[in-house]
Formats: sequence, structure tokens, C-alpha cells
Amino acid sequence: MKAVNQKFKDIEEEISFLKKKNNAIILSHFYQDEEIQDIADFIGDSLDLSKKAQKNDADVIVFCGVRFMAEVAKILSPQKKVILPDINAGCSLEESCQVDEFIEFKKKYPGHIVLSYINCSAEIKAESDIIVTSSNAKKIIDSMPVNQKIIFAPDKHLGNYLNKLTKREMILWNGSCIVHETFSERELVKLKVRNDTAKTIAHPECPENILSHADFIGSTSSLLKFISQDKTKRFIVATEPHILHQMKKNEPSKEFLIAPGTDGSCSCSNCPYMELNTLEKLRDCLHDLSPEIKISNELMLKAKKPLNTMLNLS
Ligand code: 13P
Ligand code: SF4
Repeated sequence: MKAVNQKFKDIEEEISFLKKKNNAIILSHFYQDEEIQDIADFIGDSLDLSKKAQKNDADVIVFCGVRFMAEVAKILSPQKKVILPDINAGCSLEESCQVDEFIEFKKKYPGHIVLSYINCSAEIKAESDIIVTSSNAKKIIDSMPVNQKIIFAPDKHLGNYLNKLTKREMILWNGSCIVHETFSERELVKLKVRNDTAKTIAHPECPENILSHADFIGSTSSLLKFISQDKTKRFIVATEPHILHQMKKNEPSKEFLIAPGTDGSCSCSNCPYMELNTLEKLRDCLHDLSPEIKISNELMLKAKKPLNTMLNLS
């Protein structure tokens, strides 16, 4: 890690200078550290970030999120340099779905359309027909004929939730998010009893036993919209805790409690992959223009098709 350059008042000033010098844009997901969210030019959920990656005038995209998100930015804007503060920022859902096993899995279900959640590698995207995010999955599934057979990968909890919501029987890949699996139903119920006027909101990556206690389920940006539109003053939030930063900024008069893990605390639900990105690494990657996302042209072309189908249907 480099020391703050003496020319600058602080690291934020140095980042602004490097951003201008490189004609860069900083995109951030809601699960990033507060100071990264605050310095970003644009903050959003996976779908909004994909759209923003496609439509901007920058030469360099600094992606403050996890690697699959930065890969999507590269695939949709191949002429731009896409950099990620920490190249090891992966995702447990991505890791749970390896391409060789996925190809074998697909062979067992001929005649099925392959729908993949955006939380997967470029290789899995290239093996898919349509990509979805948690904010457009229902709409995309509903647009298909009712008798269309579907494989859904890699999140079994999101898949199960969508099966119930759309009355489908999609074949599910057995993957999950380690972050959303840490919430404890028992502790959540205890918290709800102690806060009986609070509404519980949850991300659909949570297992069914947690979702069954939610008053509202949605993507990160839908959760943010809900807390602004709903008159309730107190919310229990079952998703990654860094989203509370935007919730408090958007609704300072409301109160937010993160859903507890098995030890009754919330610290276990931080995303360990998102946490790899720091303000210092953000500054360093803008300085070095590295680590850079590199994907072969062939893979980019294959992965772009199902992403474009998603964007056209969104
Ligand atoms: P969103 O698309 O809702 O922001 O979700 C991304 C994600 O990785 C949730 O764990
Ligand atoms: Fe992946 Fe879960 Fe982290 Fe989202 S919260 S990036 S799904 S590990």
C-alpha cells in the first residue's frame, strides 16, 4: 500500500485527482465500505450498475464491487479499461458453479432454457441463454411460455423463491450465498418480538425460513425504494449490513436494525469478498490502472449474448 501523496490533503483528494487524470468513473455496489460508497460517481444494484457500465463517457471504469460485476462491465463495454481494487474479490455463488460441472448438469436436462443469476462467472454466462438479476428475474420468467422448461443457476434460495413467485418448477443448481445464509431464524424472531412495530425486509438470496418472516423481499435497490415509500419508522434488514449506510442517508429519521446471525450479532453477515476492496486499494488501482479485468474476445462475445437478452427484456 502506498502512503498518501504529500501533494494531497487526504486520500479522497488524491482519488479525485487520479480519476480526472485518467478520465475514470467509479461505480460502487451498496455492499462496499461507507467511504467507497461516498466517493463513488454512481451507486446501484447489479442491474443498475450493468446499465451504467454500458452508458458512460469514461475511458476507465473502476468497479468497486465483486469480480463478476466488473466482468459484466468489461463485457458490456469492451473498449474501456475496467479495473477492480482487489482482483480476489470473488463471490461464493460464483465459486459454487464451475463450468465443467455445469456443462455436465445441463446435459441432464435437454430442452431446458438456461437462466443464470448475474452472480456467476463469464464462463457460466457464456453457457446460459438469459442472465437475470434479483430485480428483473420475475419479469423475465413471466415473459416465457408457462410450459417452458427452465434450469436456474447458481442460487438455490433465489431459485426457490422465484419458483414460488412465478409458480414454476425450475431445475435449481445447488449454490448459495454464504452471507445471506448466516441469518438465524430464531434470533430474527426474537428481534421481531422485541420490535413489534418494525417491518422486516430481505434480499431474495436469503433461505426460505428467513424470507418467510419478511414483509418485503427485493434487490438492494428495491429495498432502498421500499424503506422510502413505506411509512414505517423502523426496519429489520436481512441483507449485507453496508446497505444501512445508504438507508440512513436516504431516510435519516428512520431506524434500521440488521437481522442477527446465530450469535445474536450482525457482524457475521458482512460480505468477506466485498470487504477486500478498501479506499487505499481504490487509490492504488487508479494510480497503476491495475488490476485490470481481462477476458478473451471469444468468451466476451459468448457471454454478451445472454446479458444483452436480459437488458432487452428489462
Ligand atoms: P443486487 O443485485 O440486489 O444488488 O444483489 C447483488 C448481490 O450480490 C447480493 O448479494
Ligand atoms: Fe456474493 Fe453473497 Fe457477497 Fe453478494 S453478498 S457478492 S452473493 S458472497
